Amino acid sequence: MARFTLPRDLYHGKGALENLKTLKGKKAIICVGGGSMKRGGFLQRAEEYLKEAGMEVKIFEGIESDPSVETVMKGAAVMQEFGPDWIVAIGGGSPIDAAKAMWIKYEYPDCTFEDMCKVFGIPELRKKAHFCAISSTSGTATEVTAFSIITDYAKGIKYPIADFEITPDVAIVDPELAETMPKKLVAHTGMDALTHAIEAYVSTANSAYADSLAIHAIELIQANLVKSYNGDMEARDIMHDAQCLAGMAFSNALLGIVHSMAHKTGAVFADQGAHIIHGAANAMYLPKVIAFNAKDETAKKRYGVIADYMHLGGSNDDEKVELLIKYIRGMNDELNIPHCIKNYGADSFPTEQGFVPENIFKERLHDIAANAILDACTGSNPRQPSQEEMEKLLECCYYDAEVDF
Ligand SMILES: NC(=O)c1ccc[n+]([C@@H]2O[C@H](COP(=O)([O-])OP(=O)(O)OC[C@H]3O[C@@H](n4cnc5c(N)ncnc54)[C@H](O)[C@@H]3O)[C@@H](O)[C@H]2O)c1
Ligand SMILES: [Zn+2]
Repeated sequence: MARFTLPRDLYHGKGALENLKTLKGKKAIICVGGGSMKRGGFLQRAEEYLKEAGMEVKIFEGIESDPSVETVMKGAAVMQEFGPDWIVAIGGGSPIDAAKAMWIKYEYPDCTFEDMCKVFGIPELRKKAHFCAISSTSGTATEVTAFSIITDYAKGIKYPIADFEITPDVAIVDPELAETMPKKLVAHTGMDALTHAIEAYVSTANSAYADSLAIHAIELIQANLVKSYNGDMEARDIMHDAQCLAGMAFSNALLGIVHSMAHKTGAVFADQGAHIIHGAANAMYLPKVIAFNAKDETAKKRYGVIADYMHLGGSNDDEKVELLIKYIRGMNDELNIPHCIKNYGADSFPTEQGFVPENIFKERLHDIAANAILDACTGSNPRQPSQEEMEKLLECCYYDAEVDF
């Protein structure tokens, strides 16, 4: 028996933002990031539409990328004081994820961050507020997912909060918001979306419901991501829907160890001067994980199906897996994403010597691998890695070495 949960309403297409006018309530808090939504005029429009709906509106601004536990607690305190019955989060994955965690703390002030991280352990929400998410990047699909990723900077670890309770009530997928994305963001978020679709399709929690969404997302991403990166706005608009389809799939079919590794490597080298951006981490690790997972017969067959839908050729599943890996590496080249951590520059672009020194990587490898195994995304990966295998896999992701185990 399995469950498949999505937002109650999803408004999509250009101008969908206007549907904020249809929300019914007294007070809305808008949670937003650093300024891109204001610069694009979207924040002002959202505020106006909510006022037109007869609501008193408060804005909580400045949610940082890869939001911290501290930001979550601060936002929840503002909610406590204001008492909204709608939480409207607008922007990329970061502000929307932060707002989801604030929502839990707002409804249950005694809930600690540790409590929130218990997988599928969130108490019943919607006693105080409903949640509307409006995405401005084309990748995380957090507007439709049961996840929120919050970083504990003291530990240098990203923690996924996972529960259908935090699946938004209303999602607004308006491609106009994504049109202002800079190229690099298009590349990273787009590869995040591709990873979501592929991991969901081979996940042990896959289902016919999620499969159909994942496969169509993969087809659309293949046809549109590189075009969108190169400035084709029609392709950009399609990518906004594609990432959302991928999100609907993975919110229900879950993910795999590409994400486990991305979560555990993202912030752990922050003291060396940069983050490994989530989508870029996925883009680098995905080909390695496909090679590792393909040792599992069921996963291999499923990668073969993906390769078929992508029209990559190949006369047997081994060849199809190889062609899929080659294709994804080619996408990384076209999107200016490196193939491994060693070549990952502080600016995220490929470089001879990246920002993570070899000795630091080796020193931290054991703990990163142990944490990645414990990540909530590992359980649904088709092949369960041992500590030794996870370390070897991470080494392949550092050096761009072949995965032959
Ligand atoms: N909840 C989930 O299901 C899920 C899934 C995958 C990733 N994540 C998490 O989401 C976060 C990443 O989110 P993201 O990739 O959307 O990026 P983000 O929200 O961190 O935004 C990155 C930057 O892009 C800017 N930006 C956002 N939209 C823009 C636009 N339309 N035009 C111009 N600039 C814009 C932001 O201001 C910010 O500076 C990470 O913390 C990641 O772990 C969550
Ligand atoms: Zn992701």
